[in-house]
Amino acid sequence: MRDLPASCAPFVVAILLLVCGTSQAHEQVSFSRDIKPLLAKRCFACHGPDLAESALALHERDQALAITDSGEAAIVLSKPNSSELLRRVSSTAEDLRMPPEGDPLTPREVDLLEQWISQGADYQLHWTFLPPKKSSFPKFQDTGQDSSWVANPLDAFILAKLEAKGLPPSPPAEKAVLARRVYYNLIGLPPTLQQMQTFLDDKRPGGNHIDHNWDAHGDLIYNHSQDVSETDQPIAASLKDLRQRGLLDKTLVVRGGEFGRQPTAEYAEGTGRDHNSYGFTMWMAGGGIKGGTTVGSTDELGSRAVERPTTVKELHATVLQQMGLDPNHLTYFYNGLDQKLVGVEPVEPIWEVVG
Ligand code: HEC
Repeated sequence: MRDLPASCAPFVVAILLLVCGTSQAHEQVSFSRDIKPLLAKRCFACHGPDLAESALALHERDQALAITDSGEAAIVLSKPNSSELLRRVSSTAEDLRMPPEGDPLTPREVDLLEQWISQGADYQLHWTFLPPKKSSFPKFQDTGQDSSWVANPLDAFILAKLEAKGLPPSPPAEKAVLARRVYYNLIGLPPTLQQMQTFLDDKRPGGNHIDHNWDAHGDLIYNHSQDVSETDQPIAASLKDLRQRGLLDKTLVVRGGEFGRQPTAEYAEGTGRDHNSYGFTMWMAGGGIKGGTTVGSTDELGSRAVERPTTVKELHATVLQQMGLDPNHLTYFYNGLDQKLVGVEPVEPIWEVVG
């Protein structure tokens, strides 16, 4: 900056403050979030793609800035006070006010339009056409207790909003409350006492790959052997029960784990194994399935199916077939097309297992 006479300096400072002051008082208006929905709801019917009353159409920027029937532009960039649009939406005269029908815009809506015009009346493409941008994490005050509440990046956004409103985060819900929420969400009913008790008694830490559950990625022999020993007998018992009641013929039981596991590990340490979609086992019982039949096998490492490999589509076709539905003709209308559960190409059921 050039040297200024000393007498001018306070004046310059005052103007800078004024500029900073106004830009801070107003948030950045978003066309997609704040303006488009408002114009669409209150203006497009008469100033939009179908109708341009007074030669004013507001759905596209070029047209919105163009000269209208009155000989002036409704929007004068960065000059809300000279913009006919703002004059008309804030007018109290019945014959001038826009929209001419229904309630006048609220002061907040008028304010948003004013800010939008001040900020250059930007139009944005629909967000699906915009390249994704990484957002920076919002700042929150690190009060020790709060920062431990932030377990993942999304929490930081929630905490920042809570802090802005002066609210503390809620403490984590108790296990019983979580179970109740899940049941309401998934089936709309509360858990039975027994289901609740089973969940509360289960002390295994869940949801982590190293844990003792079917999702275990580490120590597979220990973890999966334990799971197998806990589930084998109950499954055998339920099959036996179905048979004793004469229901097994009519009940198709399908069971499988989450994919198989890779034969080798890429972990720096430990015994972890990741998912393997090239070789894994599913089994079926009842429902017209020929018991004791095995189809296909993997190589000796279990890395991929080599002998008579079958696909998930073929499994689906087998299930549909056993339910009395023709997998290659059962369709559902979706996205303008008749779609099949087994994909476009015809698929045969795995006939070897059908009794
Ligand atoms: C029901 C139809 C209708 C709706 C809805 C409507 N307008 Fe209008 N608008 C008109 C008509 C008709 C005119 C021309 C007569 C007049 O100037 O009053 C007009 C004129 C205008 C003008 C003056 C154009 C010029 O030639 O200078 C502006 C600006 C305007 N409308 C803005 C809006 C805005 C902004 C909205 C939404 C908040 C809106 N209008 C909603 C029917 C409508």
